[in-house]
Amino acid sequence: MGQQGFVVWFTGLSGAGKSTLAEHLAPILRERGVPVEILDGDEVRTNLSKGLGFSKEDRDTNILRIGYVAKLLARNGVCVITAAISPYADIRQQVRDSVDNFIEVHVDCSIDELSRRDVKGLYAKALRGEIANFTGVSDPYEAPETPEVRVNSEHQTEQESLNDILNYLEQRGLVPVAARA
Ligand code: ADX
Repeated sequence: MGQQGFVVWFTGLSGAGKSTLAEHLAPILRERGVPVEILDGDEVRTNLSKGLGFSKEDRDTNILRIGYVAKLLARNGVCVITAAISPYADIRQQVRDSVDNFIEVHVDCSIDELSRRDVKGLYAKALRGEIANFTGVSDPYEAPETPEVRVNSEHQTEQESLNDILNYLEQRGLVPVAARA
């Protein structure tokens, strides 16, 4: 039997660390022989979802597109890692229902900490009221109630978060346990 595909679906506020975790998880999985593709929010928005904005309708369209591509890849044995805010629980549920082995990973972080980091300078602007519909400030973020994995980029190191995710994937039998030297 070939490799079983699955989807690691990161969800969390902008700047919480979804893309970084995705980028660092991918090579670990590849090293264990798992084929991996990353569908990153920012990259998807410059390609597959070019022209979409941040209304609920546009975000839902964006998420459903990512979910659709993830489904096609996962059913061919690929591990798909997605990194989009995906703020709405109903659409995440719709994607969950459409793919086998949907692993939701909530990357938790407080708005206080995100405003301190503010890598893109967007929180400062949003808090000044200069960005309408900014997730977590002037637009909703519906945190998952029972994600498969919840990590916290404020109180955990990145390595701890990666370990939590890997342990879960190993327990589920989706990823082989690393061979020991
Ligand atoms: S999603 O809601 O459709 O899942 P996505 O992850 O693709 O969002 O895009 C989020 C990124 O777009 C953020 O990291 C940020 O850089 C940028 N962005 C621009 N405007 C907004 C906004 N109003 N709300 C959230 N993110 C925004």
